[in-house]
Amino acid sequence: MKTVVLCSALLLISTSIADRSINDCNDPNFHSLETSESSRIECGPAFKNRCHCSRTCYDGHHQYVVNCTNTGFHDTSPLAHLPNDTQVLIFTGNELQELPWNVFGTLDSLPYLKVIDMSNNKIREIRGKAYHHVQHVERLILDFNELSLDPARSHPRVFSNFVSLLELHLTDAFEDGPPRNLASTLHDIFVNSNLTQLIKLHLEQNEISEFRDANVFCDLPKLLDLHLGDNALSALHFNLSCLHKLRFLDLRRNKFTRVLERDLHIMDNLAKHDRSLTVDFAGNPFECSCKLNPFIKWMKKTRVFVRNQASLQCYEGNVTHDFHETKNCALKLLASTRRGTTVMLCFLSMLLIALVCTLVYLQRTKLQKKIEPVLDSVSKRVRYTSIANGDVREDV
Ligand SMILES: *[C@@H]1O[C@H](CO)[C@@H](O)[C@H](O)[C@H]1NC(C)=O
Ligand SMILES: *[C@@H]1O[C@H](CO)[C@@H](O)[C@H](O)[C@H]1NC(C)=O
Ligand SMILES: *[C@@H]1O[C@H](CO)[C@@H](O)[C@H](O)[C@H]1NC(C)=O
Ligand SMILES: *[C@@H]1O[C@H](CO)[C@@H](O)[C@H](O)[C@H]1NC(C)=O
Ligand SMILES: *[C@@H]1O[C@H](CO)[C@@H](O)[C@H](O)[C@H]1NC(C)=O
Repeated sequence: MKTVVLCSALLLISTSIADRSINDCNDPNFHSLETSESSRIECGPAFKNRCHCSRTCYDGHHQYVVNCTNTGFHDTSPLAHLPNDTQVLIFTGNELQELPWNVFGTLDSLPYLKVIDMSNNKIREIRGKAYHHVQHVERLILDFNELSLDPARSHPRVFSNFVSLLELHLTDAFEDGPPRNLASTLHDIFVNSNLTQLIKLHLEQNEISEFRDANVFCDLPKLLDLHLGDNALSALHFNLSCLHKLRFLDLRRNKFTRVLERDLHIMDNLAKHDRSLTVDFAGNPFECSCKLNPFIKWMKKTRVFVRNQASLQCYEGNVTHDFHETKNCALKLLASTRRGTTVMLCFLSMLLIALVCTLVYLQRTKLQKKIEPVLDSVSKRVRYTSIANGDVREDV
C-alpha cells in the first residue's frame, strides 16, 4: 500500500515537472531569475540602456528576445551589435525613416535569429542590401510603416536574402498612394525576392483595389494563407490558380457587392481533389438583389468552406439584412420588360393621334368640300322627319 502511494506521488511530481518544461512560459519562477535592470545591461553599451535583452516568453516558449519598443532610436546603429544569441528581435515604435546597408553588421554572427519585428517605425525606404545575414529568419514583420512606392526609392530585391522566410507581414506597411503603384511595387518585390518558402502573407489595410499583373502572387509557390482583409477589392482580379497550396483566403471588409460567377468557379477549382480551401467574405457591402443569388446558391453546395457564413449581411438601400435569396428574379425581369412595352405603346399611340390630327388639319378644305353635301342631305332629312313627326303630334 505504501509503495503505491509513494509511486503515485512520484508520478505526480514528475508529471508536474514535465508539464513545466513543455509549457515553460507558465513557470512563475522563471522571470525572477533576471531583473529588469540586468536585462538592460545584458544588451551591451550600443543599446544605451533602452532595451531589454533576456530569455523571455515569445510565441509560447522561452527565447532570447531583444526588445526595443518605443525606445526613441532614430537609426539602426545598435542592431549591428545584437547579442549573438538573439532569436527574436523586436525593434518597434522608433523613428527610422531609412534602413541603410547591412543593418545587422557585416559579420555573419546571428545564427539563431528567427523573428524580426520592425513594425511601426516610420520606415520609408529599405535599401536593397539592408538585410544581410538573415538566412535563418522565418518571420519578418514590417506592419505600420510608410514604405515608399516611388520607383526610385523602392528596391525590388529588398527581401532577396530571406531564403527561409515563412511569414511576411505587410499590414498597412506602405505610404498612401495610387493603388496601381502599390500593385506594381509588390509585384516587382515578389518576382525579385525568391520567397519560395513563404507560407503566410499579410497585406491588410493597404487600399488594394487591383493588381497590375494578375500573376502577382505566382512567385510564391508554397503560399498557404493569403490575408487581404480591409482592402478595396471587388472581385478576384488576380490569378489564384497558380497557388497550388492555397488553403485560406481572407477577403474580409473589402468592396464586394456580389461575387461573380467566374470567381465562384475559380474558388471551386481550388477546392478540387483532396485540397481544402477556406474563404472569408465577412463585412463586405453585399447588395440584396438577384445578382447575389448565384453566390448564395453556391455557398449551399460548394466544397469551399465559407468562414463566418452566418454573419454575412447584405444592404438594401442603407438597411442591412441577413443573407436571403431574392425571389422571383425571372418574373421581375419580365415585369420590367412589360412595363417597358406599355410605355412604348402609349408613346406610339399618342404619335399616331398627333399624325391623324395633322393630316385632318392639312386636308381641311378638301374634307370640307366632301363632307358639306353629306351634311346638307342629312340636315334636310332631319327637317323632313321632324315635319312628319310634327304632323303626328298635332293628331294627338
Ligand atoms: C516588449 O516591451 C514592451 C514595452 O516595454 C512590452 O509591452 C512588450 O510586452 C515586450 N514584448 C515582449 C515579447 O516581451
Ligand atoms: C559573435 O559572433 C562573432 C562572429 O562569429 C564573433 O566574432 C563574436 O566574438 C561573437 N560575440 C560574442 C559575444 O560571442
Ligand atoms: C532562390 O532560392 C533557392 C534556394 O531556396 C536557390 O536555389 C535559387 O538559386 C534562388 N534563386 C535566385 C534567383 O536567387
Ligand atoms: C494563372 O496561372 C496559371 C498557372 O501558372 C496559368 O496557367 C494561367 O495562364 C494564369 N492565368 C492568367 C489569367 O494569367
Ligand atoms: C438612408 O439614407 C438616406 C439618405 O441616403 C437617409 O435620409 C436615411 O435616413 C437613411 N436611413 C437609415 C435608416 O439610415
